[in-house]
Amino acid sequence: MFLPRMLTPARKGPAANAIALAGNQLVCTSAPRTPQPDRSLILLRSAYVNGRYVPGDRAVVHIEDRGYQFSDGVYEVCEVRDGCIIDERRHMARLARSLDELRIAMPMSASALGIVLRECLRRNRVRDGILYLQITRGVARRDHAFPAPGTKPSVVVTARSMDFAANERTAAEGIAVITLPDNRWERVDIKSVSLLPNVLAKQAAREQGAKEAWFVDRHGHVTEGSSSNAWIVSKEGKVVTRPAGKGILRGITRGVLIDVIAAHGLELEERPFTTEEAYGAREAFLTSASQLVLPVVRIDDRPIGNGAPGSIATALRAKFHQHAERT
Ligand code: PDD
Repeated sequence: MFLPRMLTPARKGPAANAIALAGNQLVCTSAPRTPQPDRSLILLRSAYVNGRYVPGDRAVVHIEDRGYQFSDGVYEVCEVRDGCIIDERRHMARLARSLDELRIAMPMSASALGIVLRECLRRNRVRDGILYLQITRGVARRDHAFPAPGTKPSVVVTARSMDFAANERTAAEGIAVITLPDNRWERVDIKSVSLLPNVLAKQAAREQGAKEAWFVDRHGHVTEGSSSNAWIVSKEGKVVTRPAGKGILRGITRGVLIDVIAAHGLELEERPFTTEEAYGAREAFLTSASQLVLPVVRIDDRPIGNGAPGSIATALRAKFHQHAERT
């Protein structure tokens, strides 16, 4: 029997292929390798996938899932604090609206979904962190048009712990933001998983040493961040944010913050603002379920105010949880 003579010893790790000599020919023999699970997946102990709780490193969806094929789905991200879900009611209402806009049926009752969210928290031992929920139009043979009626939507839920102390340190320092032309579709009011412009914008921010990118429309007005809503405090001390029409996502954190602003006697102006106005603003900040209220201290390398987190943004962050609903 001919035994190939090994030219290089098989290496350990991902590229464990070996080159062997068979007769006069070099052949690549794939050496058996030990699976190297992605560490971030190990940290996800359990995920809910279409009716079952499965270990994170085995949580998979079908390749013909329409979320994978077409980004044909929606999602929600909720903050979890002290084991409670923050503003669940509002997140579920927005989820129902997003599904309705895309004509995807709600796959389970709100109460059943609430049980799944809590079970994911329990299985992942999350006290402070975030819940991620995704619903797609389901699995079907690839065809752009909707699949046959009765195709079951796919549901995925994950839960992760977050280091809130680290977030507090980031908030105490403030973050830098860059601006970019808004090149997204018109229906950004739908929380769809189709996020390619947001992904590219966030990466551009990272590459320029910033934490977020603010999109700017063709009139020079800031719309929102790649994964957050954008705010400034004007020279006159008014808190300004773009109205939640179709140009932005109606952020849940944004909605709660409007209540906080009213409760503390601050003046709110829901109107578009330009990048120029933002450069000259007293303060700037962003809001999202995972970042809450996060001061912005630089925009396009220009310091905002005195270049440190503003007092209004800092106070709003501190007051946020007094107004958010916990369930
Ligand atoms: N992003 N705008 C965009 C484009 C967003 O993606 C988000 C949230 C927000 C803020 O919405 P909320 O206050 O409901 O989190 C605004 C989430 C956190 C994400 O994609 O991870």
